[in-house]
Amino acid sequence: MIPFGFASLRTCTRETGDRPGGASLTANPPPILNAGGTVACDRTRQATHGTAREGRLPPRRERRGFRRLISMIRIQNIFFGFDEKPILQGLNLHIQRGDTTVVMGQSGCGKSVLLKLIVGLFKPDSGEIWIDGEEVTHLKEKELDRVRKKIGMLFQSAALFDSMNVFENVAFMLHQHTKLSKQEILKIVEDKLELVDLPGTENLKPAELSGGMRKRVGLARAIAMAPDIVLYDEPTTGLDPITAEEINHMIRDLNTKLNVTSVVVTHDMKSALSIANKMAMVHQGKIVAVGTPEEMVHNENPIVRQFISGTKI
Ligand SMILES: Nc1ncnc2c1ncn2[C@@H]1O[C@H](COP(=O)(O)OP(=O)(O)O)[C@@H](O)[C@H]1O
Ligand SMILES: [Mg+2]
Repeated sequence: MIPFGFASLRTCTRETGDRPGGASLTANPPPILNAGGTVACDRTRQATHGTAREGRLPPRRERRGFRRLISMIRIQNIFFGFDEKPILQGLNLHIQRGDTTVVMGQSGCGKSVLLKLIVGLFKPDSGEIWIDGEEVTHLKEKELDRVRKKIGMLFQSAALFDSMNVFENVAFMLHQHTKLSKQEILKIVEDKLELVDLPGTENLKPAELSGGMRKRVGLARAIAMAPDIVLYDEPTTGLDPITAEEINHMIRDLNTKLNVTSVVVTHDMKSALSIANKMAMVHQGKIVAVGTPEEMVHNENPIVRQFISGTKI
C-alpha cells in the first residue's frame, strides 16, 4: 500500500483538478465535498489550490483534515451497459469515510455491476469514479492494481478456490502482492481468521465448510491486505436467518474494529436496516434516494416505499 504522505499529495492535486503550475487535470474540476455532501468553503479550496500551485504540502495535521473532507468513493455521472442494454444511466453516489453504506435495488438493477465498476473489473462507458481522492477510470492495469490494494471484496458466492485450503485462500493476495515472509503471512491469516470467528480452520477445504463459514473465509480473504474499503455483494443471500444475522453482526463489528469504509449490496431489507448508517436505492440505472435508515424508512418516494414494504416495484 502506498505511504500515507504520498497518497495525500496525490489527493491534494488530483481531487482539486490542480497540479503544481496550475494546469487542470480534468476539464471540469469537481467540487470539494464535505461530510454533509455540500461544497467546501472557498477558503478551504483556495488553501488547497494555493498549496498545490506552490508545489509544497501543508502541515501533516492540515493534510489529515483535508483528507477527511474527501469522499472515500465518489461516483460521478456513470453510464454503463452491456452491448445495447443500458444498466447504469447517470448514476451519482458519494460514500463517506467510515460509513457503512447499503446499496439496495431490485434484482438485475445493476448493484453487482456497480461494485465491479468500483473495483475496476468493469470500465464505465462514461463518467468518473474517484477512490480516496483519485480518479481511477483512466488508470492503466498496473496503477489500478495499486488502487485495488485499498479495496477488499466479498463476492456473492464467496468465490473461494475449491482446490485450495482455507489458509491458501486467505493468503492468496498476500502471496501475490506482497513480499512478506512465510511467518508474517501465517500470522496475518491467523489474525484474520480470528476476526471472522474461524480460528484453527486453516487446513479445511471449502467443500468442508457451511455456507456461513464460506462467507466468513471470503471475508477473511477480503480483509487480508488491510484494505481501507470493503465491498460486500449480497453477504447474507442464501443463508438461514440465524447465520445471516451472524454475518450482519460481523460486518458491523469489522467496520468498527478495522475502521474501514463499507459498501454492502443487498436486497435483504432486514439486513440493510441492521447494518447501514447510510442507504442508497438504485432504480432504472440511477440512485433515486439516499439517507440514513431512519430517513429511508420515512422516505415518501413510492419506489423506496414499495421496496421497504416488500411489494413489487
Ligand atoms: N457479464 C455480463 N454480461 C452481460 N450482461 C450482464 C453481465 N453481468 C450482468 N449482466 C446484466 O446486467 C444487469 C445487472 O446485473 P447485476 O449488476 O448483476 O444485477 P444485481 O442488481 O442483481 O446485482 C442484469 O440484467 C444482468 O443480466
Ligand atoms: Mg448482484
